[in-house]
Amino acid sequence: MKLHTSSGLRGTVTVPGDKSISHRAVMLGALADGETHISGFLMGEDCLSTIDCFRKMGVQIDVRDGGVTVHGVGLHGLRAPEGPLYTGNSGTTTRLLSGILAAQPFPVSMTGDASIEQRPMGRIITPLREMGADIRGRDGKYCPLHIAPAALHGVRYEMPVASAQLKSAILLAGLYADGVTEVVEPAPSRDHTERMLRAMGVQVEQDGCRVAVHAPLALRACSIEVPGDISSAAFFLAAGAIVTGSELTVKNVGINPTRDGVLEVLRAMGADITCTNVRDAAEPVADLTVRASALHGTEIGGPLIPRLIDELPVLAAAAAFAEGETVIRDAQELKVKESNRIAAMVAELTRAGVDCTETADGMVIRGGRPRGAAFETYRDHRIAMSMAVLALGAAGESEILDPGVVSISYPGFFDTLRQIGG
Ligand code: S3P
Repeated sequence: MKLHTSSGLRGTVTVPGDKSISHRAVMLGALADGETHISGFLMGEDCLSTIDCFRKMGVQIDVRDGGVTVHGVGLHGLRAPEGPLYTGNSGTTTRLLSGILAAQPFPVSMTGDASIEQRPMGRIITPLREMGADIRGRDGKYCPLHIAPAALHGVRYEMPVASAQLKSAILLAGLYADGVTEVVEPAPSRDHTERMLRAMGVQVEQDGCRVAVHAPLALRACSIEVPGDISSAAFFLAAGAIVTGSELTVKNVGINPTRDGVLEVLRAMGADITCTNVRDAAEPVADLTVRASALHGTEIGGPLIPRLIDELPVLAAAAAFAEGETVIRDAQELKVKESNRIAAMVAELTRAGVDCTETADGMVIRGGRPRGAAFETYRDHRIAMSMAVLALGAAGESEILDPGVVSISYPGFFDTLRQIGG
Protein backbone atom coordinates (compact mmCIF):
# COMPACT_ATOMS: atom_id res chain seq x y z
CA MET A 1 0.00 0.00 0.00
CA LYS A 2 1.53 3.29 -1.11
CA LEU A 3 0.80 6.45 0.87
CA HIS A 4 1.64 10.06 0.08
CA THR A 5 1.87 13.21 2.16
CA SER A 6 -1.69 14.41 2.71
CA SER A 7 -2.67 18.01 2.20
CA GLY A 8 -5.50 17.73 4.74
CA LEU A 9 -7.98 15.14 5.97
CA ARG A 10 -11.60 16.28 5.97
CA GLY A 11 -15.01 14.79 6.55
CA THR A 12 -16.94 12.47 8.80
CA VAL A 13 -15.98 8.93 9.63
CA THR A 14 -17.82 6.11 11.35
CA VAL A 15 -15.38 3.54 12.69
CA PRO A 16 -16.29 -0.16 13.09
CA GLY A 17 -17.61 -1.51 16.38
CA ASP A 18 -15.53 -1.88 19.51
CA LYS A 19 -13.46 -5.06 19.42
CA SER A 20 -13.51 -5.73 23.17
CA ILE A 21 -17.27 -5.26 23.44
CA SER A 22 -17.98 -7.33 20.30
CA HIS A 23 -16.08 -10.34 21.73
CA ARG A 24 -17.90 -10.10 25.05
CA ALA A 25 -21.32 -9.74 23.40
CA VAL A 26 -20.89 -13.08 21.62
CA MET A 27 -19.44 -14.85 24.66
CA LEU A 28 -22.03 -13.66 27.17
CA GLY A 29 -24.83 -13.94 24.60
CA ALA A 30 -23.87 -17.60 24.10
CA LEU A 31 -24.08 -18.27 27.85
CA ALA A 32 -27.38 -16.39 28.32
CA ASP A 33 -30.90 -17.78 28.18
CA GLY A 34 -32.63 -16.37 25.10
CA GLU A 35 -31.58 -14.39 22.03
CA THR A 36 -28.99 -11.63 22.22
CA HIS A 37 -29.20 -9.12 19.38
CA ILE A 38 -25.98 -7.25 18.70
CA SER A 39 -25.84 -4.16 16.51
CA GLY A 40 -22.59 -2.53 15.43
CA PHE A 41 -20.67 -5.81 15.82
CA LEU A 42 -17.07 -5.65 14.54
CA MET A 43 -16.67 -8.01 11.58
CA GLY A 44 -12.90 -8.13 12.07
CA GLU A 45 -10.95 -11.38 12.01
CA ASP A 46 -10.49 -11.50 15.80
CA CYS A 47 -14.20 -11.28 16.55
CA LEU A 48 -14.97 -13.79 13.79
CA SER A 49 -12.61 -16.18 15.62
CA THR A 50 -14.80 -15.83 18.71
CA ILE A 51 -17.95 -16.55 16.68
CA ASP A 52 -16.28 -19.58 15.14
CA CYS A 53 -15.28 -21.04 18.53
CA PHE A 54 -18.82 -20.75 19.93
CA ARG A 55 -20.37 -22.22 16.78
CA LYS A 56 -18.04 -25.21 17.24
CA MET A 57 -19.53 -25.60 20.72
CA GLY A 58 -23.07 -25.80 19.37
CA VAL A 59 -24.17 -22.17 19.59
CA GLN A 60 -26.26 -20.86 16.69
CA ILE A 61 -25.04 -17.42 15.67
CA ASP A 62 -26.72 -15.64 12.74
CA VAL A 63 -24.73 -12.94 11.00
CA ARG A 64 -26.85 -10.70 8.80
CA ASP A 65 -26.48 -7.22 7.39
CA GLY A 66 -26.61 -4.86 10.28
CA GLY A 67 -26.55 -7.37 13.08
CA VAL A 68 -25.60 -10.56 14.83
CA THR A 69 -28.05 -12.74 16.73
CA VAL A 70 -26.68 -15.18 19.29
CA HIS A 71 -29.07 -17.96 20.30
CA GLY A 72 -27.96 -18.44 23.89
CA VAL A 73 -27.63 -22.00 25.18
CA GLY A 74 -27.51 -21.03 28.86
CA LEU A 75 -24.61 -21.30 31.30
CA HIS A 76 -24.57 -25.10 31.05
CA GLY A 77 -25.52 -25.61 27.40
CA LEU A 78 -22.17 -25.56 25.55
CA ARG A 79 -21.27 -28.82 23.78
CA ALA A 80 -17.85 -30.42 23.34
CA PRO A 81 -16.26 -29.26 20.05
CA GLU A 82 -15.05 -31.95 17.66
CA GLY A 83 -11.44 -30.78 17.67
CA PRO A 84 -9.23 -28.08 19.17
CA LEU A 85 -10.62 -24.54 19.12
CA TYR A 86 -8.59 -22.14 16.93
CA THR A 87 -8.43 -18.53 18.11
CA GLY A 88 -6.32 -17.09 15.27
CA ASN A 89 -4.49 -13.89 16.31
CA SER A 90 -6.91 -13.06 19.13
CA GLY A 91 -5.60 -12.74 22.68
CA THR A 92 -9.03 -11.67 23.92
CA THR A 93 -10.68 -14.82 22.51
CA THR A 94 -7.99 -17.07 23.95
CA ARG A 95 -7.86 -15.61 27.43
CA LEU A 96 -11.57 -14.91 28.04
CA LEU A 97 -12.57 -18.27 26.60
CA SER A 98 -10.13 -20.04 28.96
CA GLY A 99 -12.16 -18.77 31.91
CA ILE A 100 -15.37 -20.18 30.44
CA LEU A 101 -13.83 -23.46 29.28
CA ALA A 102 -12.25 -24.15 32.68
CA ALA A 103 -15.76 -24.80 34.01
CA GLN A 104 -17.17 -26.97 31.23
CA PRO A 105 -17.95 -30.68 31.69
CA PHE A 106 -15.84 -31.66 28.63
CA PRO A 107 -12.12 -31.55 27.79
CA VAL A 108 -11.03 -29.04 25.18
CA SER A 109 -7.82 -27.72 23.62
CA MET A 110 -7.20 -24.25 22.28
CA THR A 111 -4.58 -23.00 19.87
CA GLY A 112 -3.91 -19.96 17.71
CA ASP A 113 -1.51 -18.49 15.16
CA ALA A 114 2.26 -18.01 15.55
CA SER A 115 1.77 -14.76 17.52
CA ILE A 116 -0.73 -16.33 19.95
CA GLU A 117 1.67 -19.22 20.57
CA GLN A 118 4.24 -16.69 21.85
CA ARG A 119 1.92 -14.70 24.11
CA PRO A 120 1.95 -15.24 27.89
CA MET A 121 -0.81 -17.55 29.11
CA GLY A 122 0.79 -18.30 32.51
CA ARG A 123 -1.02 -15.21 33.80
CA ILE A 124 -4.41 -16.93 33.28
CA ILE A 125 -3.27 -20.47 34.09
CA THR A 126 -2.13 -19.49 37.62
CA PRO A 127 -5.40 -17.96 38.91
CA LEU A 128 -7.61 -20.48 37.11
CA ARG A 129 -5.66 -23.31 38.76
CA GLU A 130 -6.10 -21.56 42.11
CA MET A 131 -9.84 -21.73 41.42
CA GLY A 132 -9.51 -25.49 40.94
CA ALA A 133 -9.25 -25.58 37.13
CA ASP A 134 -7.39 -28.32 35.32
CA ILE A 135 -5.60 -26.23 32.68
CA ARG A 136 -2.19 -26.89 31.19
CA GLY A 137 -0.14 -25.02 28.61
CA ARG A 138 2.96 -25.73 26.54
CA ASP A 139 5.94 -25.27 28.89
CA GLY A 140 3.35 -24.39 31.53
CA LYS A 141 2.65 -20.96 30.07
CA TYR A 142 1.92 -20.93 26.32
CA CYS A 143 -0.70 -22.09 23.82
CA PRO A 144 -1.83 -24.72 22.96
CA LEU A 145 -3.85 -24.90 26.16
CA HIS A 146 -5.44 -28.14 27.33
CA ILE A 147 -8.38 -27.85 29.69
CA ALA A 148 -10.17 -30.73 31.46
CA PRO A 149 -13.38 -30.72 33.54
CA ALA A 150 -13.06 -29.54 37.16
CA ALA A 151 -15.21 -27.98 39.88
CA LEU A 152 -14.29 -24.33 40.50
CA HIS A 153 -14.39 -22.35 43.72
CA GLY A 154 -14.21 -18.60 44.29
CA VAL A 155 -10.90 -16.96 45.22
CA ARG A 156 -9.57 -13.52 45.96
CA TYR A 157 -6.82 -12.94 43.40
CA GLU A 158 -4.37 -10.04 43.41
CA MET A 159 -3.48 -9.51 39.76
CA PRO A 160 0.20 -8.87 39.01
CA VAL A 161 -0.70 -6.80 35.89
CA ALA A 162 -3.56 -4.48 34.98
CA SER A 163 -5.14 -6.60 32.25
CA ALA A 164 -8.82 -6.70 31.32
CA GLN A 165 -8.28 -10.03 29.59
CA LEU A 166 -6.94 -11.58 32.79
CA LYS A 167 -9.61 -9.92 34.96
CA SER A 168 -12.35 -11.08 32.59
CA ALA A 169 -11.05 -14.66 32.41
CA ILE A 170 -11.27 -14.89 36.21
CA LEU A 171 -14.71 -13.23 36.40
CA LEU A 172 -16.07 -15.53 33.68
CA ALA A 173 -14.76 -18.59 35.54
CA GLY A 174 -16.41 -17.02 38.60
CA LEU A 175 -19.81 -17.41 36.91
CA TYR A 176 -19.41 -21.13 37.61
CA ALA A 177 -17.51 -21.03 40.90
CA ASP A 178 -18.74 -21.91 44.33
CA GLY A 179 -18.83 -18.71 46.44
CA VAL A 180 -17.61 -15.25 45.50
CA THR A 181 -14.78 -14.61 43.02
CA GLU A 182 -12.82 -11.45 43.62
CA VAL A 183 -9.99 -9.76 41.72
CA VAL A 184 -7.84 -6.81 42.72
CA GLU A 185 -6.04 -4.93 39.95
CA PRO A 186 -2.94 -2.75 40.29
CA ALA A 187 -4.82 -0.08 38.24
CA PRO A 188 -8.30 -0.12 36.69
CA SER A 189 -8.49 -1.75 33.24
CA ARG A 190 -11.43 -1.67 30.81
CA ASP A 191 -14.67 -2.71 32.52
CA HIS A 192 -16.79 -3.93 29.58
CA THR A 193 -17.21 -7.41 31.06
CA GLU A 194 -18.51 -6.01 34.34
CA ARG A 195 -20.95 -3.69 32.57
CA MET A 196 -22.31 -6.42 30.31
CA LEU A 197 -22.63 -8.97 33.13
CA ARG A 198 -24.69 -6.44 35.10
CA ALA A 199 -26.88 -5.76 32.07
CA MET A 200 -27.53 -9.52 31.94
CA GLY A 201 -28.61 -9.62 35.58
CA VAL A 202 -25.40 -10.76 37.32
CA GLN A 203 -24.42 -9.27 40.68
CA VAL A 204 -21.05 -7.57 40.20
CA GLU A 205 -19.55 -5.42 42.95
CA GLN A 206 -16.94 -2.84 42.19
CA ASP A 207 -14.93 -0.68 44.51
CA GLY A 208 -11.90 1.05 43.01
CA CYS A 209 -9.52 -1.65 41.79
CA ARG A 210 -11.53 -4.50 43.34
CA VAL A 211 -14.24 -6.40 41.45
CA ALA A 212 -16.29 -9.32 42.79
CA VAL A 213 -18.79 -11.56 41.03
CA HIS A 214 -21.42 -13.84 42.55
CA ALA A 215 -22.19 -16.96 40.53
CA PRO A 216 -25.65 -16.42 38.98
CA LEU A 217 -28.32 -19.02 38.26
CA ALA A 218 -28.64 -17.67 34.73
CA LEU A 219 -27.69 -14.81 32.40
CA ARG A 220 -30.56 -12.84 30.83
CA ALA A 221 -30.20 -12.19 27.10
CA CYS A 222 -30.46 -8.56 26.02
CA SER A 223 -29.88 -6.20 23.11
CA ILE A 224 -26.35 -4.89 22.81
CA GLU A 225 -25.41 -1.78 20.87
CA VAL A 226 -21.66 -1.86 20.20
CA PRO A 227 -20.25 1.68 19.97
CA GLY A 228 -17.46 2.62 17.54
CA ASP A 229 -14.04 1.50 18.76
CA ILE A 230 -12.03 4.34 20.34
CA SER A 231 -8.90 2.31 19.52
CA SER A 232 -9.80 2.60 15.80
CA ALA A 233 -10.95 6.22 16.15
CA ALA A 234 -7.51 6.99 17.63
CA PHE A 235 -5.88 6.60 14.18
CA PHE A 236 -8.07 9.35 12.74
CA LEU A 237 -7.73 11.57 15.79
CA ALA A 238 -3.94 11.35 15.58
CA ALA A 239 -3.94 11.80 11.79
CA GLY A 240 -6.27 14.79 12.02
CA ALA A 241 -4.08 16.37 14.68
CA ILE A 242 -0.80 16.03 12.73
CA VAL A 243 -1.82 16.61 9.09
CA THR A 244 -1.97 20.36 8.46
CA GLY A 245 -5.35 21.59 7.22
CA SER A 246 -7.35 18.69 8.68
CA GLU A 247 -10.76 18.74 10.28
CA LEU A 248 -12.36 15.37 10.94
CA THR A 249 -15.34 14.12 12.90
CA VAL A 250 -15.50 10.52 14.11
CA LYS A 251 -19.07 9.67 15.01
CA ASN A 252 -20.47 7.32 17.63
CA VAL A 253 -17.26 6.50 19.48
CA GLY A 254 -17.24 4.65 22.82
CA ILE A 255 -15.72 6.94 25.46
CA ASN A 256 -15.80 4.61 28.46
CA PRO A 257 -13.54 6.30 31.07
CA THR A 258 -11.42 3.12 31.31
CA ARG A 259 -10.60 3.54 27.59
CA ASP A 260 -10.36 7.28 26.93
CA GLY A 261 -6.75 7.97 27.93
CA VAL A 262 -5.89 8.71 24.29
CA LEU A 263 -8.09 11.82 24.37
CA GLU A 264 -6.40 13.03 27.55
CA VAL A 265 -2.91 12.56 26.09
CA LEU A 266 -3.61 14.04 22.65
CA ARG A 267 -5.11 17.10 24.37
CA ALA A 268 -2.09 17.32 26.69
CA MET A 269 0.04 17.36 23.51
CA GLY A 270 -1.92 20.36 22.23
CA ALA A 271 -4.45 18.58 20.01
CA ASP A 272 -7.76 20.34 19.41
CA ILE A 273 -10.41 17.66 20.10
CA THR A 274 -14.03 18.41 20.92
CA CYS A 275 -16.58 15.97 22.20
CA THR A 276 -20.24 16.48 21.21
CA ASN A 277 -23.50 14.59 21.27
CA VAL A 278 -22.47 12.70 24.42
CA ARG A 279 -24.98 10.01 25.34
CA ASP A 280 -24.91 7.31 27.95
CA ALA A 281 -26.31 3.86 27.26
CA ALA A 282 -24.67 0.69 28.68
CA GLU A 283 -21.47 2.35 27.45
CA PRO A 284 -20.96 6.13 27.07
CA VAL A 285 -20.71 7.32 23.45
CA ALA A 286 -19.88 10.63 21.72
CA ASP A 287 -18.87 12.25 18.42
CA LEU A 288 -15.28 13.48 18.37
CA THR A 289 -13.98 16.30 16.19
CA VAL A 290 -10.28 16.97 15.69
CA ARG A 291 -8.62 19.94 14.01
CA ALA A 292 -4.95 20.04 13.07
CA SER A 293 -2.70 21.87 15.50
CA ALA A 294 0.92 22.11 16.57
CA LEU A 295 1.76 19.30 19.00
CA HIS A 296 4.34 19.20 21.76
CA GLY A 297 5.88 16.32 23.72
CA THR A 298 4.40 14.86 26.91
CA GLU A 299 4.87 12.13 29.52
CA ILE A 300 2.69 9.01 29.51
CA GLY A 301 2.85 6.56 32.42
CA GLY A 302 1.30 5.22 35.63
CA PRO A 303 -2.42 4.38 35.86
CA LEU A 304 -2.99 6.10 32.50
CA ILE A 305 -1.29 3.18 30.70
CA PRO A 306 -4.15 0.62 30.92
CA ARG A 307 -6.54 3.37 29.74
CA LEU A 308 -4.68 3.73 26.42
CA ILE A 309 -2.60 0.57 26.09
CA ASP A 310 -3.68 -0.15 22.49
CA GLU A 311 -3.26 3.49 21.44
CA LEU A 312 0.40 3.79 22.42
CA PRO A 313 1.71 2.91 18.93
CA VAL A 314 -0.31 5.68 17.27
CA LEU A 315 0.53 8.09 20.09
CA ALA A 316 4.20 7.31 19.38
CA ALA A 317 3.54 8.14 15.70
CA ALA A 318 1.94 11.46 16.75
CA ALA A 319 4.89 12.16 19.08
CA ALA A 320 7.18 11.93 16.03
CA PHE A 321 5.61 15.24 14.86
CA ALA A 322 5.54 16.91 18.29
CA GLU A 323 8.00 19.51 19.38
CA GLY A 324 10.27 18.25 22.15
CA GLU A 325 10.41 14.92 23.93
CA THR A 326 7.67 12.38 24.59
CA VAL A 327 8.40 9.80 27.28
CA ILE A 328 6.36 6.60 27.51
CA ARG A 329 6.98 4.59 30.69
CA ASP A 330 5.33 1.76 32.70
CA ALA A 331 4.34 0.18 29.39
CA GLN A 332 6.18 -3.19 29.55
CA GLU A 333 2.91 -4.88 28.55
CA LEU A 334 3.43 -3.50 25.04
CA LYS A 335 6.16 -6.09 24.57
CA VAL A 336 3.66 -8.97 24.74
CA LYS A 337 0.94 -7.72 22.40
CA GLU A 338 0.39 -8.99 18.82
CA SER A 339 4.05 -8.00 18.36
CA ASN A 340 6.65 -6.41 20.62
CA ARG A 341 5.17 -2.96 20.05
CA ILE A 342 8.01 -1.09 21.75
CA ALA A 343 10.68 -2.67 19.55
CA ALA A 344 8.44 -2.41 16.46
CA MET A 345 7.64 1.29 16.86
CA VAL A 346 11.21 2.25 17.71
CA ALA A 347 12.48 0.40 14.61
CA GLU A 348 9.88 1.91 12.27
CA LEU A 349 10.13 5.45 13.67
CA THR A 350 13.90 5.19 13.25
CA ARG A 351 13.32 4.13 9.63
CA ALA A 352 11.33 7.36 9.23
CA GLY A 353 14.32 9.34 10.49
CA VAL A 354 12.82 10.00 13.94
CA ASP A 355 15.17 10.24 16.90
CA CYS A 356 13.84 7.68 19.40
CA THR A 357 15.18 5.25 21.98
CA GLU A 358 13.81 2.06 23.45
CA THR A 359 13.77 1.91 27.26
CA ALA A 360 13.08 -1.00 29.63
CA ASP A 361 9.41 -0.07 29.98
CA GLY A 362 8.66 2.17 27.04
CA MET A 363 10.39 4.63 24.72
CA VAL A 364 11.56 8.20 24.36
CA ILE A 365 10.69 10.03 21.14
CA ARG A 366 12.14 13.37 20.12
CA GLY A 367 9.80 14.83 17.54
CA GLY A 368 10.93 16.31 14.26
CA ARG A 369 10.09 15.98 10.58
CA PRO A 370 9.51 12.30 9.78
CA ARG A 371 10.16 11.15 6.21
CA GLY A 372 8.40 8.45 4.24
CA ALA A 373 9.85 4.93 3.96
CA ALA A 374 8.80 1.31 3.40
CA PHE A 375 7.41 0.23 6.76
CA GLU A 376 7.24 -3.28 8.23
CA THR A 377 4.09 -4.29 10.13
CA TYR A 378 5.35 -7.26 12.20
CA ARG A 379 2.00 -8.81 11.24
CA ASP A 380 0.46 -6.44 13.78
CA HIS A 381 -2.67 -4.50 12.74
CA ARG A 382 -2.00 -1.55 15.03
CA ILE A 383 1.60 -1.12 13.85
CA ALA A 384 0.35 -1.07 10.23
CA MET A 385 -2.27 1.60 10.95
CA SER A 386 0.07 3.68 13.13
CA MET A 387 2.68 3.81 10.38
CA ALA A 388 -0.03 4.70 7.84
CA VAL A 389 -0.93 7.68 10.05
CA LEU A 390 2.71 8.70 10.21
CA ALA A 391 3.00 8.34 6.41
CA LEU A 392 0.19 10.87 5.83
CA GLY A 393 2.15 13.52 7.67
CA ALA A 394 5.65 12.48 6.58
CA ALA A 395 7.62 14.05 3.75
CA GLY A 396 7.70 11.89 0.60
CA GLU A 397 6.17 8.56 -0.33
CA SER A 398 5.71 5.64 2.05
CA GLU A 399 4.78 2.02 1.73
CA ILE A 400 3.05 -0.31 4.20
CA LEU A 401 4.49 -3.71 3.38
CA ASP A 402 1.72 -5.95 4.70
CA PRO A 403 -1.47 -3.83 4.63
CA GLY A 404 -3.91 -6.77 4.78
CA VAL A 405 -3.11 -7.28 8.45
CA VAL A 406 -5.42 -4.36 9.36
CA SER A 407 -8.45 -6.68 8.93
CA ILE A 408 -7.79 -8.08 12.40
CA SER A 409 -9.55 -5.03 13.86
CA TYR A 410 -10.38 -2.66 10.99
CA PRO A 411 -11.27 -4.11 7.59
CA GLY A 412 -11.72 -1.13 5.26
CA PHE A 413 -9.27 1.12 7.11
CA PHE A 414 -7.44 2.18 3.94
CA ASP A 415 -10.72 2.80 2.03
CA THR A 416 -11.86 5.14 4.80
CA LEU A 417 -8.51 6.93 4.75
CA ARG A 418 -8.91 7.49 1.02
CA GLN A 419 -12.45 8.83 1.43
CA ILE A 420 -11.29 11.55 3.80
CA GLY A 421 -8.44 12.65 1.55
CA GLY A 422 -5.64 10.30 2.49
C1 S3P B 1 -8.45 -6.25 25.82
C2 S3P B 1 -7.56 -5.94 26.82
C3 S3P B 1 -6.21 -5.43 26.57
C4 S3P B 1 -6.07 -4.89 25.16
C5 S3P B 1 -6.65 -5.82 24.14
C6 S3P B 1 -8.13 -6.04 24.39
C7 S3P B 1 -9.78 -6.79 26.17
O1 S3P B 1 -5.29 -6.49 26.72
O2 S3P B 1 -4.72 -4.66 24.87
O3 S3P B 1 -6.50 -5.32 22.83
O4 S3P B 1 -10.67 -6.83 25.30
O5 S3P B 1 -9.97 -7.18 27.33
P1 S3P B 1 -4.67 -6.90 28.15
O6 S3P B 1 -5.76 -7.45 28.99
O7 S3P B 1 -3.61 -7.92 27.84
O8 S3P B 1 -4.10 -5.62 28.72
